[in-house]
Amino acid sequence: VIDIHKLYAGTNMFMFDPGFTSTASCESKITFIDGEKGQLYYRGYPIEQLAEYSDYLETCYLLIYGELPDAVEKQKFELGVLRHNMVHEQLTWFFRGFRRDAHPMSMMVGVVGALAAFYQDSLDINNPDHRRIAEYRMIAKMPTLAAMCYRYSKGLPFNYPRNSLSYTGNFMHMMFAKPTEDYVVNPVLERALDRIFILHADHEQNASTSTVRLAGSSGANPFACIAAGIACLWGPAHGGANEAVLKMLDEIGDVSRVEEFMQGVKEKRYRLMGFGHRVYKNMDPRAKIMKQTCDEVLNELGLQDSPKFKLAMALEKIALEDSYFVERKLYPNVDFYSGIVLSALGIPVAMFTVLFALARTVGWVSHWHEMIADPNQKIGRPRQLYTGSGRRDYLSVDKR
Ligand code: ACO
Repeated sequence: VIDIHKLYAGTNMFMFDPGFTSTASCESKITFIDGEKGQLYYRGYPIEQLAEYSDYLETCYLLIYGELPDAVEKQKFELGVLRHNMVHEQLTWFFRGFRRDAHPMSMMVGVVGALAAFYQDSLDINNPDHRRIAEYRMIAKMPTLAAMCYRYSKGLPFNYPRNSLSYTGNFMHMMFAKPTEDYVVNPVLERALDRIFILHADHEQNASTSTVRLAGSSGANPFACIAAGIACLWGPAHGGANEAVLKMLDEIGDVSRVEEFMQGVKEKRYRLMGFGHRVYKNMDPRAKIMKQTCDEVLNELGLQDSPKFKLAMALEKIALEDSYFVERKLYPNVDFYSGIVLSALGIPVAMFTVLFALARTVGWVSHWHEMIADPNQKIGRPRQLYTGSGRRDYLSVDKR
């Protein structure tokens, strides 16, 4: 029998930290979270100020380059991104290979990984120009690919990007424009969606960003790394949570069933989706902004009295007062409200995580870039604590 303690004695000391609850895997200058206080900063700027005054593309610039752009840099960046928003025409054939009822995230994992097959002039990770162009391409093409997933699943023709529109307005156009009419973007809804993108742009070493870094640490090309991040984001404990919130609200169905549902949560039969966070032990600052955005969107659309919103508010009220949640410091996270907003914007539930992936792409590429540009970067290689069988000899099948 292997003595675990002897096995690991003499090696350099290492931590056993399942779930990485207290292990930093890297240094980063991009995003800071103060979980106890419920604060979030991108490159030192509070998320509240960026959500109020900035726009998504400007926030992308900030995350990538570390500073807010001046007017010339801002325009140059916007044009630089916009010129990459078309996808290779052969990618449309890639889409046609999927079943129409495929989950859009399964399509996204496939097509984003496949970008490496189409853009071979941006795969050399040791060439800074290749790295930059790959980053611009991914930020620019994600809305196009996301809208294509939606249109394909509905059997609708793809809409080409319109560069006269903003990044977010263009996405809405590609999603919703009918071939026979000029789509007019509602500025309140456009601003709300842009804000959702800002709030989801980065969140330091969450599971998907760590996945991108781990994949990238082997020297894999950036498109493959982002595809890995998308795969990780898909899970219901991470980016799939806003989808799970809407499903949960549908299952509860009515305010009268909230107490019964909460009893099941406390008995640990299931979790209250959209609540709790590994780092925030206070209100998620993005949730506060999202709640306000939710009010604005529902007012604009005349949906303030929607039963789903009322149900969500009833759940929130009970949870914030209940000792089970208070003792465990479980507060609503950004996903509790984002699903309601997205659904009001006409985004189908299955597309929620795709929109999260779209917005988070800039965070992923910023972290990937930061890691690749670090001269001390090493391949990520976590250790394990072996608890399996000790040494034993092989027995032929008739002796087992
Ligand atoms: N509902 C009910 N109980 C919960 C919830 C919840 N949403 N979250 C945590 N708990 C309880 C656990 O049962 C546990 O209780 P115990 O101490 O009696 O065993 C305690 O709170 C701690 O839970 P952990 O699972 O250890 O917390 P962890 O930090 O690992 O999990 C997570 C964080 C995954 C986000 C969790 O809170 C969860 O599953 N939430 C629901 C899914 C969700 O909303 N995810 C979105 C995260 S935000 C994002 O990705 C943008």
